[in-house]
Amino acid sequence: MLPYSKVSESAKYILSKIKVIPPTAVILGSGLAGFHERVDDRIEIPYSDIPGFGEATAIGHSSKLVFGKLKNRYVIMMCGRFHCYEGYSMEQSAFPVYVFKEMGVKNLIITNAAGCINTEFGAGELMLISDHIKLVADSPLRGPNDDKLGPRFNDMTYAYTPRLRELAKEVAYGVGMPLREGVYAYMPGPSYETPAEIRALEILGADAVGMSTVAEVIAASHCGLDVLGISLLTNMAAGILDKPLSAEEVIQAGKNAAEDFAKLVTAVIERIEV
Ligand code: HPA
Repeated sequence: MLPYSKVSESAKYILSKIKVIPPTAVILGSGLAGFHERVDDRIEIPYSDIPGFGEATAIGHSSKLVFGKLKNRYVIMMCGRFHCYEGYSMEQSAFPVYVFKEMGVKNLIITNAAGCINTEFGAGELMLISDHIKLVADSPLRGPNDDKLGPRFNDMTYAYTPRLRELAKEVAYGVGMPLREGVYAYMPGPSYETPAEIRALEILGADAVGMSTVAEVIAASHCGLDVLGISLLTNMAAGILDKPLSAEEVIQAGKNAAEDFAKLVTAVIERIEV
């Protein structure tokens, strides 16, 4: 993992630009790409100015932090994340999470687009992540541990913070929005999965599949940030329907669900304990 000194340098730089510590950080996945435009009194910090940050190259992702107020709550958002399929290590994908922790952020809302494996759920729906499955060997914590950031062996039992999951369910119920809950399986991509891989993941207990999130969640659990994970199910996973998957379909589904996704995340931020 990257050493504390790098995390601290990066956090100091960001704090020098924003002056107030936001209680909540949000990582915007494909379905929430335009969400930062709802933030008032915006301060934007390009990743290229932040020590230790990479550049987000995935379609539909920009490369900046946006800080400001959402319904009178301070938030900081990552517009663009670092996926392993772009060539980043899990360590690099997870780096911003440690920086948020070092800044004094308490809650991390992680969003993503995912393929739907559970055939009782459908494309276009939102799914609260209750847990994850990571079958690849890599981890953001591989290598020497920096005890200033977290323990060598961290517990993952409550990585998806029960308090925040309950809050999201209450909020969704309150606004009459259907919200599924299930297990997210990480696959490294960038190819979509094969139908056989999807059948295997289903047997293992996965409800959705995607190419992000788990490195960030492992880091958050390691350093003690509370996590809420929400997937937008953009498509039925490979082999479930008799048709090929396309990145355009994923982006279009993101656009269609953007309003609901934004409504849910805004209401959660408004009601989150600070
Ligand atoms: N698989 C992996 N990642 C994804 C998918 C999928 O089907 N849809 C959106 N992100």
